[in-house]
Amino acid sequence: MSKQTIRDLDLSGKKVLVRVDFNVPLTKEGAVSDDRRIKAALPTLNFALEHGASLVLVSHLGRPSGKPEEDAAFRLDRVAERLQELLGRPVTKVNDTVGPEAQAAAAALAPGGVLVLENVRFNPGEKKGDPTFAAALAGLADAYVNDAFGTCHRDEASMVAVPECFPADRRAIGFLVEKELQILDTLLKHPKPPMVALMGGAKVSDKILVIENLLPKVERLLIGGAMTYTFLKAQGHPTGKSRVEADKLDEARHLLELAGDKLVLPQDHLVATSLDPNAETKVVAGTEIPDGWLGLDIGPATAAAYGELIKNAGTVIWNGPMGKFEDEPYRKGTVKVAEAMADSAGVTVVGGGETAEAVEEFGYAEKMSHVSTGGGAFLECLEGKSFNSLKVIPDR
Ligand code: 3PG
Ligand code: MG
Repeated sequence: MSKQTIRDLDLSGKKVLVRVDFNVPLTKEGAVSDDRRIKAALPTLNFALEHGASLVLVSHLGRPSGKPEEDAAFRLDRVAERLQELLGRPVTKVNDTVGPEAQAAAAALAPGGVLVLENVRFNPGEKKGDPTFAAALAGLADAYVNDAFGTCHRDEASMVAVPECFPADRRAIGFLVEKELQILDTLLKHPKPPMVALMGGAKVSDKILVIENLLPKVERLLIGGAMTYTFLKAQGHPTGKSRVEADKLDEARHLLELAGDKLVLPQDHLVATSLDPNAETKVVAGTEIPDGWLGLDIGPATAAAYGELIKNAGTVIWNGPMGKFEDEPYRKGTVKVAEAMADSAGVTVVGGGETAEAVEEFGYAEKMSHVSTGGGAFLECLEGKSFNSLKVIPDR
């Protein structure tokens, strides 16, 4: 079922509140270190501006504590500056969200104008979905567009209660949300076979629902990352000093049983004596991690085998790094699978904050069919969940 989109709205001369997800990574100095999410919203923002609208942009950044002295690091000034560079037109940033400064700036907007409100999470009403706060925010504009795919799994005011303040014909999704939903829908309902899922990351517990939902749809589910060792332990193998979720062994056994031979575990491992990037390392074959060693990456034979399965797949979906990829000695496995995806003739989709960052950093982002801007939202889509933030946007 397709949702009303920004194409369906009357934009000319209107103030459009666009909920974007500009929750971007920042450097220690507060600079935007990855502007992918800002760039991904540009088609929607430019479309609205080209059709005579002005923009009131709403986003969160991080998880501010609510203590004003700690909030400085979560202000949206640097994000607004980056947006101004990318849009190539002036962007006004105000220091509140619904207060007098925001109201005055919104009232002063002329067609083509762009206003960025302060971090919406500075208001306690945001998390709570407070209707009074939502009405104040909605009062700044004539129409609402959700282009915050990365936040669609949240029920916060700006995602649900705010659109509910607008008449049905003034609520829509933007191009980013439309594209992300289309790709995920195709992936889950009519993937080009055979479909291979590649799941990494530290914890089995984060992926249980995803794995359960994907298993019936995939030919193979390839496992990497530290969750490998929870699976190996669940099978009764020694795991040395590797990271294991000791309280998730039953869940891991349940998944192993459910998956049968669809679930593929690494056949070799890069192990080290400690987490230190300079620790002694070696490759061990098989399913046993020696005493005193911990697994930090998939081994070369596994990387080659996974690479072959990826290259021959019709569809590949990837979430979660294969090892401790932030350290050079432990990133080969993650680089190899990213390379195989880039070379694959199949449909390749990458999601999850860390995985998308890895692909970007290795320079393969352009070679993927799609790199999602969603972390939690992407995973919850793979779990088969539906979102309240989208239920409030009418179907076409
Ligand atoms: C994300 O990065 O996952 C989204 O921006 C949502 O942020 P949150 O996890 O803090 O709600
Ligand atoms: Mg998150």
